[in-house]
Amino acid sequence: MMRKHRSTMTICFTNNKGGSGKSTSCANLGYELSAAGRKVLLIDGDMQLNLSLTFFDEEKVLKMAGGEKNLYHAICNKKDLKDYIVPTVYENLDLIPSSTLMSQVEYELFTMMQREFILKKCLHTIKEEKEYDYILIDAPPTLGTWVINILCASDYVIVPVEASPWGLFGLANMFDFLNELQDMTDAQIMGVLITKVDERKNYFRQTKEILKGYKEFHVFDSCIHVDSSIEWAQDASKPVAVYKKSTRSAAEFKMLAKEVLLWQ
Ligand SMILES: Nc1ncnc2c1ncn2[C@@H]1O[C@H](COP(=O)(O)OP(=O)(O)OP(=O)(O)O)[C@@H](O)[C@H]1O
Ligand SMILES: [Mg+2]
Repeated sequence: MMRKHRSTMTICFTNNKGGSGKSTSCANLGYELSAAGRKVLLIDGDMQLNLSLTFFDEEKVLKMAGGEKNLYHAICNKKDLKDYIVPTVYENLDLIPSSTLMSQVEYELFTMMQREFILKKCLHTIKEEKEYDYILIDAPPTLGTWVINILCASDYVIVPVEASPWGLFGLANMFDFLNELQDMTDAQIMGVLITKVDERKNYFRQTKEILKGYKEFHVFDSCIHVDSSIEWAQDASKPVAVYKKSTRSAAEFKMLAKEVLLWQ
């Protein structure tokens, strides 16, 4: 049965700094929102296939990546993404898989008309049908035309930032980049999410203070501590809450979901 909602909220995870926790946050927030009864579509926008690997084993991910039912194929052929949705084993949680060929997407987009809006157009039917409460898009650690596509298709941006000096370095660049896109997209920063917090290092406190000093954006109250269960869960192709419900990061992602659910 088709569910009717007021609207579908599209949130992307971007930070050109690699390893800041984009894929981990996208996967686990997506799982928590679905566990809270919301219908969620995850889109793996990165050739590293990390989001897909959180929900399917390597063999299945490579099979999807090598076939035609993936994001790269849809973007190159400007296809409606409704036909590219794959259900996960979890209720209310679907995924559009990526391909290693996404490494070539910049080149493919280059010759297209309105090249910044291809993803937005491919998502049109899904958004119009309002079947999903949330669409979460995992972006690669770049700032090119493909990431502009992701931002143009989004209502909100979550910026995961690693609690380290280099985690903060370059953040200003990213915000400048977002500002420059103001004519193209209404996407707003929902918040900065501090990840990989290590209490043994004082740097976390400093990171939080520096970030709170910026008045231009919100910093989520929830932050994600370093937790080895995250890596074990990824190794097992599972969200961390499914891998080990009692672990700290599972509780933190649940809290983050509560913050996001308040955002209407
Ligand atoms: N809270 C955490 N505790 C421990 N390890 C973590 C945590 N968050 C992420 N990691 C690990 O850090 C690495 C980078 O995380 P992730 O892949 O989510 O970042 P990313 O921003 O998506 O990276 P990329 O820019 O390459 O796409 C991964 O190996 C992941 O397992
Ligand atoms: Mg990633």
